[in-house]
Amino acid sequence: MPYWNPPENEGPYHAVLSMRENIKNKVKMHAYPMLNWLGLVKIDIHWINDPQTAREVFLKNDAAYGHLDMKGWFDLNSEYRFRTKKDIFWETCSADETGMLRDIKRSDPAGTKIGKQCRKRVMEVLAKKSLEPVWVDAIEREIPKMIRRMKEEGKNGKVAFYPFDNVTMPAAMSVLLGVSFNIDCSTRESWIRKMIDYSCKALHTLTRLDGHKLFLVLIPRWMRNLIPLSFWPKWTGELQGFTTEIIEMIEEHNKNWQVGDESPSLIAPLETDRQKGLLKYWDIVHTLQAMILAGADTTATSTASCMRQLAMNPPVQEKLFNVLNAQDFRADSFADCHYLMAVIYESYRMCPMVWRSLFHVVTEDMKIEDYNFSKDDFLAYSHTGVCFSEIYFPEPLKFKPERFLDEQGEFKKNENLMPFFIGKRSCPGQILANLEVFHFMKNMIKEFRFEVSADAPIDTSFTEDGWHTLWSHGAHKEWNHHFLLPAENKILCIPRN
Ligand code: HEM
Repeated sequence: MPYWNPPENEGPYHAVLSMRENIKNKVKMHAYPMLNWLGLVKIDIHWINDPQTAREVFLKNDAAYGHLDMKGWFDLNSEYRFRTKKDIFWETCSADETGMLRDIKRSDPAGTKIGKQCRKRVMEVLAKKSLEPVWVDAIEREIPKMIRRMKEEGKNGKVAFYPFDNVTMPAAMSVLLGVSFNIDCSTRESWIRKMIDYSCKALHTLTRLDGHKLFLVLIPRWMRNLIPLSFWPKWTGELQGFTTEIIEMIEEHNKNWQVGDESPSLIAPLETDRQKGLLKYWDIVHTLQAMILAGADTTATSTASCMRQLAMNPPVQEKLFNVLNAQDFRADSFADCHYLMAVIYESYRMCPMVWRSLFHVVTEDMKIEDYNFSKDDFLAYSHTGVCFSEIYFPEPLKFKPERFLDEQGEFKKNENLMPFFIGKRSCPGQILANLEVFHFMKNMIKEFRFEVSADAPIDTSFTEDGWHTLWSHGAHKEWNHHFLLPAENKILCIPRN
């Protein structure tokens, strides 16, 4: 298999370069070093560069759904809790009960069944048509706060800023916590802030393949237990409060609820299953933790990116404003504004902050086309490479929402754009994510005009050279570089009146 050697301290940008080059040369799969720790711990990622091959692998077999990388994070967090005996429920905590993030594998049918059950419950809640108005209400309740913060932070359109930190992230976190725990977050601003700090740190440490973490994860548990906690990564201690917060929310929910009661929360169906003996307590804690880890900064960065894409493309912005204005900004569902959906999907393509699939760990020996993979090999899909490939998207450097509209002007998906990926580990939150981005954007475009600022220049040449300067070339270990980060994120948000 072709091998790609990136420069030292490479990051998402360099991994994307390897995808683009290999796709251009019609290489369906290539290997890339993700970790080389003193030559002792070496991990290669095998990037799948072809959407059709990805569909074959992820839709037609069960051997690519291990979560070895994430399991290690839960191991360290749980063992830290157990060893320090300080935080609540330390006696029972279990790293094996990772809920919906459990491995899907034939060698563990019982665990696989529990993992699938958790996912089924999550999907039932998040994809339930009858609950959609509840989520839309929760999203719309955030709008006045978002407008206020946009005006404050942007000094009424005079100062460029990144709308993620104080606008889209608090809104997305508030919606997510409301949905997960069925609580009203409107008076809990400082708590939301705390949960944001926890979730960002947790996601950063969960998705990063760093040598320190992997060394601890790969040695046997008994050996790990001989290593004093002061030599463990600091976050193992710092994130105990995150788990405690989730346990407290579950306990608070359960005080006023019993099996059979209606509750539009994620806890109720999970807790019902636990009481029937279908899953364990820590499966619930870890499923909710996974939701909070994955469900806020993804939608928040996607919304902020969409604003940035509109700032970079004034004619598209004007057209979107006019389309929505003509319907008095009334769009209750996706079908009420096809052009907005097309703008959002083009923005997912042009600014794919979630730039790759998860790392999928092979659970039993398997063959993909001419290549043999062994248990514990890492696979991932070259999402961003495909997004920026002429083969799959003609004129890939141009922002053209029309590519997601059919002849009648109706929104149509393109099977080569998989922002939520596919298969048994695909994003369970995609309906909620689209609802959030849709309703946030509908309201923001009504209130603000987005512009690139001379004080925070962004290349709008839409050329190959310009593309390279659009992205941060920072290393994976740099803060927030689990995303493919733009080099410049700040834009002007100018109130329309
Ligand atoms: C625009 C926003 C979002 C994007 C682009 C996105 C994208 C993704 C992608 C690409 C994956 C990896 C799928 C795979 O490799 O198979 C994923 C996984 C996941 N997402 Fe999302 N996501 C978004 C929002 C959300 C939301 C709102 C939630 C929860 C409410 C969520 C929860 C999750 C979880 C729990 C996983 C892990 C699933 C597993 O490993 O079994 N995501 N997401």
